[in-house]
Amino acid sequence: INLDGQTFELPTLVGTENEKAIDIAKLRDLSGYVTYDPGYKNTGATKSAITFLDGEEGILRHCGYSIEELADKASFLEVAYLLLNGELPTQSQLDAFEADVKKYTVTNEVLLKIEQVIPTSTHPMSELSALVGLMEGQYNPAETKENILRLIAALPIFAAWNYKKSIGEALVAPDQSLDYCSNFLKMMFAKPGEDYKVDPIVSKALNKLLILHADHEQNCSTSTVRLIGSSHASLFSSISGGIQALFGPLHGGANQAVIEMLEEIKQAGGDTSKFVAMAKDKTSGFRLMGFGHRVYKNFDPRARIIKVAADDVLTALGVKDPVLTIAQELEAAALSDEYFVARKLYPNVDFYSGIIYRALGIPTDMFTILFAIGRLPGWISQHQEMMTNKEPIGRPRQIYVGSPARAFVDM
Ligand code: MLT
Repeated sequence: INLDGQTFELPTLVGTENEKAIDIAKLRDLSGYVTYDPGYKNTGATKSAITFLDGEEGILRHCGYSIEELADKASFLEVAYLLLNGELPTQSQLDAFEADVKKYTVTNEVLLKIEQVIPTSTHPMSELSALVGLMEGQYNPAETKENILRLIAALPIFAAWNYKKSIGEALVAPDQSLDYCSNFLKMMFAKPGEDYKVDPIVSKALNKLLILHADHEQNCSTSTVRLIGSSHASLFSSISGGIQALFGPLHGGANQAVIEMLEEIKQAGGDTSKFVAMAKDKTSGFRLMGFGHRVYKNFDPRARIIKVAADDVLTALGVKDPVLTIAQELEAAALSDEYFVARKLYPNVDFYSGIIYRALGIPTDMFTILFAIGRLPGWISQHQEMMTNKEPIGRPRQIYVGSPARAFVDM
């Protein structure tokens, strides 16, 4: 067959069941032209009305609104409202939503006691997932709206607990007079009792980063949330699982891995060309983190925005971070190198985000937590959509490629 100018030889689909299964697997490899039988509902794909993504063109929209406009003009809670309701809020709807989130922005003493005994050697993402799972104690299936608000309010609080514990400092209570991002920054960085003023540059930068991470259609963590939820486990259990899925360095954990890589290059003298050469040599064991994306065959639109924001934020804060220069050099080298160009390996959202988080004072092992706080509204809205559409329980289709039936032989 000829598809878009490419010729493919179709497998024969004859032979034993196992051989046919292998042929079907080969057929699938024909670059995504072959789709699953829709009869296998909820196995390989899903319909969704939340996020549109065109990886060829580098387009990302939430409910029709471009990521560029949202990142420029909206607040994070406005985007959360959009994802959850399909429409941007009016001013009074937004005020009510913010007030609702604040109502749940309180310290949960039971969970705090548990958090305090989790060893500091535990990665913040594991702790976050555990605490969200343990919110189960407050779960009431009839309180859909309240459960959502509890989650949105809780994540920044859990993150701040983790940070304060890691530096051995007393907690700072949530400040109801502040907006979502400023309140988080105060809980993180104020000393107890201090009259702390949140830097508006920092708060604005955080707002933008959270918006850029708010949803990204069906990815590893989002599909995990949908899959867990499809068994009708609670929203809290589903989000707890999503956090675990995000933890991995090939997913949200990549923002931590990027900074660690940039630091490694800096320690080694900062010669980016050496590392670009190593990245091309499959035997070197070195991997260029933060480049390439499963869906973007063009610039990740979020990376474009973050790149500019990284420059702006560091300049505004007067931070001179040598890893920013290394990142810029790496990007320039990679984008002009045929190896990366041919493979369409552009910097992705994780490439620059860590540099900003660092400038904002966020420790490296908390970068992925920030991704989780940003992704939360997306996860919740995807879960909500899945439940509203009464999707059947997820069950990935399997193509068996193991041994054919054989007789057990006594030894
Ligand atoms: C992302 O934000 O890039 C992701 O969640 C990863 C993906 O889309 O696969």
